[in-house]
Amino acid sequence: MWKRIAVAFLFAAVVTLGAVFAYLVLRKPAMQPPSARVVPRTPERVERGRYLFMSVANCAECHSEVDWTRFATPIRKDGIGAGKIWPPEAGLPGSLISPNITPDAGTGVGGWTDGELMRAIREGIGRDGRVLFPLMPYTEFRSMSDEDVESIVAFIRTLAPIQRKMEPSRIDFPVGLLVKSAPQPVTGVVEAPNRADRAAYGRYLSVIAGCRTCHTPTRRGSQVEGMQYAGGESFGTEKSGLLAVSFNLTPDKGTGTGTWDEKQFLEKFRQYREYAQGTPPPATKENFTVMPWLSFNGMEDDDLKALFAFLQTLKPVEHSVETRPLAEKK
Ligand code: HEC
Ligand code: HEC
Repeated sequence: MWKRIAVAFLFAAVVTLGAVFAYLVLRKPAMQPPSARVVPRTPERVERGRYLFMSVANCAECHSEVDWTRFATPIRKDGIGAGKIWPPEAGLPGSLISPNITPDAGTGVGGWTDGELMRAIREGIGRDGRVLFPLMPYTEFRSMSDEDVESIVAFIRTLAPIQRKMEPSRIDFPVGLLVKSAPQPVTGVVEAPNRADRAAYGRYLSVIAGCRTCHTPTRRGSQVEGMQYAGGESFGTEKSGLLAVSFNLTPDKGTGTGTWDEKQFLEKFRQYREYAQGTPPPATKENFTVMPWLSFNGMEDDDLKALFAFLQTLKPVEHSVETRPLAEKK
């Protein structure tokens, strides 16, 4: 009797698990066909796109090989947009490859339509309908304005085409199945907030520049409730000796940005100007960082001021963070 019940129970469990598995495998991500829009390539758009690509949205940072042995991982200037192979030290779930997004027809995005590019950037769907792994921050780029994403596309078309065949990413099981729920179609018109509303514009920038992503701690892939912008997310590994933890950006007086003024905030972003223009020093336990200091050095004063204004509107969260936990204690 008991044995029969146990067998029946086991059977039911296996069937349920099988159904869940089949659901995960067969489930279609939310997607729509790419738009037919052809972006007019005005000089203004190309300039705006360059700014966003190089200095704000970290496209260059993530889609070019970088020198991991130097402070703030400088970009190899001869391969902008030609893709990046993520090292094991990044601690990602699989072998992640940022594709070549230069206009090379065979190995880059030269053959893609503008609509296909915009869909990949904001909706996370590749040209062939594949779901992009959300290390590509389309879940954040979703709120990028139509004008800004079009500008980025206009700029990508002007990059030097580089022939470099990149293998596709391989994501570990079962993470690869779970990410299917990440893509979401963008519908209607998306506009950026008015720049005159500094805090609202700063919030917009903080999303597309990844401040929110990197400065919010996560547990098992989800952001910790009530801790947005409160820091504490780790990057790198202890084993490699290179580890950095993001700082608390909320205006808490003791542990965050509560006592900073706008000038100080801007100075932080300008302090590595020489490194951004030349060669930064070697990465050590004391200075290792993934904070895109070198790219952000190109950010306009007005945008940094907007970011600061926005951060000051956040609810202060008391959260003390040691940003370089492996540094020698003085
Ligand atoms: C944090 C790193 C990161 C940032 C920032 C980032 N990307 Fe990506 N991107 C990736 C990765 C990784 C993939 C591949 C994901 C996969 O293989 O599933 C990708 C995929 C893409 C694709 C699809 C290419 C293909 O061949 O399938 C495009 C297009 C793209 N990114 C453009 C951009 C643009 C434009 C920006 C800036 C607005 C940007 N990315 C910012 C990491 C990033
Ligand atoms: C790829 C992840 C990443 C992104 C994107 C990122 N940060 Fe950071 N940030 C870090 C880490 C890690 C640190 C700690 C190490 C350091 O100070 O360099 C840090 C440090 C900082 C600090 C220095 C705090 C101090 O100790 O003086 C400030 C300010 C800051 N980030 C603001 C921002 C803002 C604003 C944005 C968006 C425009 C942003 N960060 C985007 C990871 C990131």
